[in-house]
Amino acid sequence: MSRVAVLTSGGDAPGMNAAIRAVVKVGAGRGVEVFGVEGGYDGLIESRIRPLTYSVGDRLMPERAVDLALGEGGTLLGSSRSAAFMEAEGRARAAGALADFDGLVVIGGNGSLAGAHALATEHEMRVIGIPASIDNDIGCTSLAIGVDTALNTIVDACSKISDTARAHRRAFVVEVMGRQSGYLAMASAVAAGADAVLFREQGRSAEAIIESVEAVVRESFDSDVGKRRVLIIKAEGVLLSATDLVREVNDRLAGFGGVETRAIVLGHLIRGGSPSYMDRMVGGRLGLMALHALSDGATDEMVAWRPPLEDGIETPDSRVQRFSLGRVAEESAALLDGSSRVMQRRMRMIETVEGVLAL
Ligand code: F6P
Repeated sequence: MSRVAVLTSGGDAPGMNAAIRAVVKVGAGRGVEVFGVEGGYDGLIESRIRPLTYSVGDRLMPERAVDLALGEGGTLLGSSRSAAFMEAEGRARAAGALADFDGLVVIGGNGSLAGAHALATEHEMRVIGIPASIDNDIGCTSLAIGVDTALNTIVDACSKISDTARAHRRAFVVEVMGRQSGYLAMASAVAAGADAVLFREQGRSAEAIIESVEAVVRESFDSDVGKRRVLIIKAEGVLLSATDLVREVNDRLAGFGGVETRAIVLGHLIRGGSPSYMDRMVGGRLGLMALHALSDGATDEMVAWRPPLEDGIETPDSRVQRFSLGRVAEESAALLDGSSRVMQRRMRMIETVEGVLAL
C-alpha cells in the first residue's frame, strides 16, 4: 500500500481533525503517502485531492497544518452533503478519481458510511469508515467522534442559561441538535440538571408535551418546592418547535406567579468548538486502526469504538473493533426505528430517571 486518500463527509464533528491527523501521521510513519479530498464526496467527484504528506529525503512527513488542526473543531478538509454521490453516475466518477489510490478512509455519519459501502461494493475500491457524528446514531459503535465535545458544550450552555434563569425565576426550553436521534438530549439531561427531557423517540403528541412541560413548571415553581429555575432539554427531532411549545405553555401559565418560560435553540453552536480529550483520543485511535485495516487488505468495514472483549474482528487496540459497513447500516436503521437493543436499553435508562428529574 503506497497511496491512500481520506475525506470527511456530512455534518462536521469535533475530533474529525484528530482522526485525519492520525491517518496522515501513521501513513507517513509507514511510508504511505496520504492525500486529502476537499469538500467530502463532492470534492471526490471533482477530483479535488491534495497531498497531506511530503518527502524530506527518504522520509515522509505530515503537512504541518494537519498537525496543528488537532485542537480545532470542524474539518480541515471541508465537508458536504453530496447529492451527486447519491447517484450511481456520481459514484462512478468518484471511483475514477481514486484510480491511482490503494484505499480510501471515509470519516462521517450514517449517510457518509452508506456512501462508503456503495463505493466499496460497486467498484474495485478499498474503503474503511470512521464513525463521526454528534448525533451518536451510528450502529455498532458505542461512541462516534464529536459526541463527547457536543455534550460538554450542551452542559456548559445549560449551566450559563441556569445562572440567568435563577436570577429571574424563569423556565427555559433548551433545544439541542438531533434531527432523527434524541441521544444528545437524553445523554445531557442528567449532567445538565434538567427537570425534564423531550425527544422524538418518546412518541408523545404535541398536546402531551405541552401538558407535561406546564406541569413541570407549575410543580417546580410551587412555593413549597422553591426552585428558582426550570430547565427542559428538547431534541430538535420533536416536531413541536421550541418557540411554539413555549408560547403554548406561557398561554396556559398566564397568571401563575409571574412565571415566564423562554426558548433557546443551541443549534450549530453544539457542532463547533475545540474537541475534548475524549474526541481527540477516540479520533486518534480510530484513525490509527483505519489505516491498519486498509493495510491488512480490509474493505467495506468501519472501525468502531466498543467496550473491550465484545464480538467483532479484533484489532491491536482492545477498544477498536471492525464491522462490515452492511451490518453498520442495519444497526443504524434499528437505532432510528427503536428496534435495536442499544436503543431499548437507552430508553429504559432514561425512563428510570425521568420520574426524578423534576424533583
Ligand atoms: O450532524 C448531524 C446534525 O447535526 C443533526 O443533528 C442536525 O439536524 C443536522 O446535522 C443539521 O445539519 P445541517 O447543518 O446540514 O443542516
